[in-house]
Amino acid sequence: MKKVKNICCIGAGYVGGPTMAVIARECPHIKVTVVDINAPRIEAWNDEDLTKLPVFEPGLDDIIKEARGRNLFFSTEVDKAIDEAEMIFISVNTPTKTYGKGKGMAADLKYIELCARQIARVSKTNKIVVEKSTLPVRTASAIKSILDNTGNDVQFEILSNPEFLAEGTAVTDLLNPDRVLIGGDNSTKEGVNAIQSLSDIYANWVPDSQILTTNVWSSELSKLTANAFLAQRVSSINAMSEICEQTGADVDEVAKAIGMDSRIGSKFLKASVGFGGSCFQKDILNLVYIAKSYGLEEVADYWEQVVIMNDYQKQRFSDNIVKTLYNTVSGKKITFLGWAFKKDTNDTRESAAIKVADSLLNEQAEIVVYDPKVVEERIYADLDYLGSRTPNENRNLLKTAKDAYKACTNSHGIAVLTEWDEFRTYDWERIYNDMQKPAFIFDGRGILNQSELERIGFVYYKIGSGIG
Ligand code: NAD
Ligand code: UDX
Repeated sequence: MKKVKNICCIGAGYVGGPTMAVIARECPHIKVTVVDINAPRIEAWNDEDLTKLPVFEPGLDDIIKEARGRNLFFSTEVDKAIDEAEMIFISVNTPTKTYGKGKGMAADLKYIELCARQIARVSKTNKIVVEKSTLPVRTASAIKSILDNTGNDVQFEILSNPEFLAEGTAVTDLLNPDRVLIGGDNSTKEGVNAIQSLSDIYANWVPDSQILTTNVWSSELSKLTANAFLAQRVSSINAMSEICEQTGADVDEVAKAIGMDSRIGSKFLKASVGFGGSCFQKDILNLVYIAKSYGLEEVADYWEQVVIMNDYQKQRFSDNIVKTLYNTVSGKKITFLGWAFKKDTNDTRESAAIKVADSLLNEQAEIVVYDPKVVEERIYADLDYLGSRTPNENRNLLKTAKDAYKACTNSHGIAVLTEWDEFRTYDWERIYNDMQKPAFIFDGRGILNQSELERIGFVYYKIGSGIG
């Protein structure tokens, strides 16, 4: 079996960048080249100024500093990197389809297919192709069919190796994964060798007991299943949050009480304004589409409800702001603390803040957003993408601020959309003094100190317990 000395990763995004940086750091004997067609993104990965990396993740800058230029390279020369590599990771985006059959549900696999065709065209030596992107179950067979029908007389082995990192904790997740999952064909010698080659790479830092091998279909489906189960927990606790608000129960107390049951476990039970991120909604909708395509309507409906509940939670949060502010927010200043879909990331994909802002802008609110990591262009791009109003209208109604205190001055209400740690440590007395009265806080993350804020004079609404 040939040892892997050169890895190519196609796709330098939130997964490709951090994943390959960690492989390069842990395997100094392997040359890792991350390629992308997005030239500005590659330029940013190569920037001397590490604050300009395209992905913000705690600890990532140190790893890039150590490995970049040694055995980690970022490049736009896709063909060259494919040609040199014995193992190629495909880590491109697989968004929800926005057109044609399966629109709004199925995964769009056009970028995956383009990669497969490019690998087929360029390869002159045998390759192990690793699916790192999240893919519908049985995608490997489509990739194999494209690769095998090019007539280059090159052998390809396809492995599924889904990524379980969560943004904001990507580096620790990659360095200490709960498990590494490798799906491959263990019925052939070549398949077994390919599985071994990939296991050997992870074995440089992951204990053997945590490297799990399965058949390809189980691996592909496990990724969708894991995300569906995680998102389901969030929607379940969010469903309970509304019952709590109606009954005087407190969702955090309920979560603690049930989380101490070792069968339930305490993680992923934090009620919120709704889950966001590029994965949960997309992957559940993909699962729903797969179920439907096999005629499994009940299964499809069951999982779709997780997304329906999530949309409802976002709408409920903005409706509650309008209702509490005397049924009108027209011309009122509402401050958003946070725009990212969770703390410690600059990623805003599917962030609950986007939908909440859209609803409040429809009510003619004047929004000011402060987020410690998200740049203004991103916020406007998120809003413009919805197409609810013209870019000019968005820029007139919504402003961004670089300073949280300025963002809150003269505000009628503050909405906490992201659980950034710094929000807990603000001088809330100062913020209160500069706001319109009564001064409202809508804590969509349940992170602020209720009794302290109420002592200061705020009217404090917490998701999952309502107003004090
Ligand atoms: P991303 O959009 O951040 O990055 C994908 C990159 O691939 C982009 O930079 C794009 O330019 C590049 N690309 C697309 N087609 C290309 C091609 N033909 N050649 C070269 N480059 C190409 O996406 P991401 O968040 O990194 O996600 C990638 C995959 O990983 C998705 O399938 C996603 O579901 C999965 N995933 C994501 C996360 C996460 O937290 N973001 C976690 C686990 C799995
Ligand atoms: C998720 C999966 O966790 C990860 O394994 C997979 O690889 C990619 O998708 P990510 O979307 O990056 O990761 O973050 P995650 O921590 O799962 O949070 C997703 C969303 O759920 C965020 O908006 C978060 O705020 C929300 N959430 C999470 C809650 O509202 N409550 C919780 O208890 C947990």
